[in-house]
Order: sequence, then C-alpha cells, then structure tokens
Amino acid sequence: MGTLTATSLSLSSSHLNLITRRPFGRKIKNPILHYPFSYQQPTNLHLPSYQFKKAKFELSTAISSTDTVPAADQSFKDASFGQETETSEKDEKFDWYAQWYPVMPVCDLDKRRPLGKKVMGIDIVVWWDRNENDWKVFDDTCPHRLAPLSEGRIDQWGRLQCVYHGWCFGGSGDCKFIPQAPRDGPPIHTSSKACVAAYPSCVQNGILWFWLNADSQYKDIFSKEKPPYIPEIDDPSFTSQMITRDIQYGYEVLIENLMDPSHVPYAHYGIMRAPQRSKSVKVDREGGRPLEIRVKTLDKKGFTAKSSTISDNIFIPPCVFYSSGSLGGNPDNISASPAGTTECNLAYKGLNVLEIVLQVFSLASIGIVAAAKQGALSAAARSTLVSVAIISFLVSKWLSHFVYKNFHFHDYDHASR
Ligand code: FES
Repeated sequence: MGTLTATSLSLSSSHLNLITRRPFGRKIKNPILHYPFSYQQPTNLHLPSYQFKKAKFELSTAISSTDTVPAADQSFKDASFGQETETSEKDEKFDWYAQWYPVMPVCDLDKRRPLGKKVMGIDIVVWWDRNENDWKVFDDTCPHRLAPLSEGRIDQWGRLQCVYHGWCFGGSGDCKFIPQAPRDGPPIHTSSKACVAAYPSCVQNGILWFWLNADSQYKDIFSKEKPPYIPEIDDPSFTSQMITRDIQYGYEVLIENLMDPSHVPYAHYGIMRAPQRSKSVKVDREGGRPLEIRVKTLDKKGFTAKSSTISDNIFIPPCVFYSSGSLGGNPDNISASPAGTTECNLAYKGLNVLEIVLQVFSLASIGIVAAAKQGALSAAARSTLVSVAIISFLVSKWLSHFVYKNFHFHDYDHASR
C-alpha cells in the first residue's frame, strides 16, 4: 500500500500529466489549493455556460450486477457518506474564456525559438522575452499579413520577428519595428493595428500558464487571480515527473476519464491491480463493484469528492483534476517512464547481438562435438559442450521473448486479457 498524489492538467489537444509521490509509508498532507476565483461576466459565448444550482449529491455507480457491498465498504459508507453536500446557493455561470490554462512545462520550452500550440482552438505562440526575462504568450498571427509568428525567430535584440516581412514585436505585443516603413515617415509601427494580442501569462509549479483572454481588463489578472496551485509539486519531499503527450481527443474527455474510477477494473485489467476482495463477496473476474462517491462541494469552482478508493478528488475547472489518498497496487504502474531513446536503442541492439552470439555459440558447440573424432574429446568434455549448447540455446530463446515483450510495441488487446 503506498501513498501518492496524482494531478492532471489537460489541454485541448494534448495533456500534461503530473505525478507527485512521497516515499511510501509517509502520511500525505491535506492538499491546499489556492484558487481565489473572482467572477467575471462572460464576454465570449462560443462555449456553453454551465449553471450550478444548490444540490445534494451522493453518487453510486453499479458496475457488476453480481456484486454485493461488503461489510468493510458498508462501514466506509456509514462513516463518510452521511453528510450533506456543501454547494453554492446562488446560480453561477462559468466563463471558459476567463480562465488560466496550462501551456507547457517550462522544462520542455526552448528559449532560443518560438513555439506554436493550439489551446481551446486558439493558435498561440510561446516565446522567451529576454528583455523582460519572462515567457510570453501571443496570438500566433502576425497583424500584417497573418503569417504564423511561431515560424519566426528571436532577433538579436530579443524581439519576436515575423519571418514574412520582418516586423518585430516586444513583450507587450507592441510593434517595435517595420523594416519597410520610411525612417523619416510617420511612426506607423506605433499604430494599435500593428500590435499582436498578448495574453497574460505566468509560471507556477514549473508550468507556463496563460489567461485565455487578451482583453486589457485582464492585464493584471495574475495579481487578482492565480492558476490552481499544487503544493506537492514544489515540495522537495515529493518526487515529481511531468509528461506531455498529444492525444486524439479533447481535454474534457480525459478529465472525465480521470474522474471515473469505475472503468479501472475493466479498461485496465491486467495492468493495474484491483483491490483484493473478500472470498465471501461474489464478484466477476475483473472485480467490478458498486463504488460510492460522496460529492462534498460543487459550484463553479469545481468539486471536491471522497470515494472509497481515493480519499480526496478535487476538480478545478476547466482542466485540473487532483487526487490524493491511498491506492493499492504498485504506483510505479502510474509513474514509470521509458528510458531515453538512445538508451533504449543501445539496449535493444545489444540484446539482439547477445541473442545471436548465444545461438552461434550453441550451434558451434554442437558442431564441435559432432565433428570431433572418436577419442579426440573426453566424455566429460563432450557432455560439458552439449550442456553449454543447450543452455545457450534456451537462454537465447528467453532473450528473444524478453526483447519482444519489452521492446516491441503491443497494442492493448482487451479480448485476450
Ligand atoms: S506577415 Fe508578418 S511581417 Fe508581414
């Protein structure tokens, strides 16, 4: 049994999945989330506004019709699910375009070149402004002829330069230089039409965040409202790992998946260990059972919930899901990461060479025994060579299986599990 926290921050086309772990056996602190939400009137209604009304939630997911709730789980229910959900009393609206969104872990950004990304359907460019010593997030569109600024460069004065006609921009999105403008003409680069939309941005928990609204009213939004803060990521007594992976579906699908523990025994059968059940309880092979989730608070700031498998689940909209508590099984299933490509290639090639060497050695040993004239080899030498040949052959076969299993891609086949 180990104690861990797992946090996920999802983007529209990719997700960051952060795993923070304490050494096992140490008690985890209660998570403290700073989210001083100040409500703003919606300014953009492309996405639906969700309304939250006062409600009492006690959820139960029935997975297996053959299951019954064991006594231990019943006591959990009695202890934890008897309280009412705390929710906001007033109707509230959620503005998708007045939120902090994670862009990238800073460790994955390159200060020497701009990076283009699409978040919530909006093309942005991220670049390092060495004059302000800060990361900047702009619309990825040059105001001149709409060329993507992410294909530009950082010029020798540290400005973002569009590579189509060379316009240069400062950290506030202001145009600093138009090469084609006459030097003795009007300062057309100071026109507001020559500016790029610059989004408020900040670095927190080693992640670059940006506020998805470049309106001037949000210029100082960081002083009023900060991105969700995960204390464990900055706590040196935890180990952290940041993973960025492009996925073929929206972030909301991933977030919903992470909130849904009932799929685990089936969708992850064989790769995540299910909790051990009492033999007296009738369950199917995968161990699905009714799960009870108590939603403690629910409003436009998200929800907090408690379940029988993970002690605390916290959702901070739009894209942070945070859980802490105790999980059975081996947490390395969650936090394991493959070695770097170079090491993998070397190991793969080395093991393949070893397999061939063992097979050649095995054949050579048998060949020597077969070719040796009567009396040239003692009986002991013959049996030693034959034994070595057999062992080498068996080891090469095992190695072949090991390489196939660990280095070749295998799609997850649910039917064969
Ligand atoms: S399109 Fe960017 S300078 Fe012309």
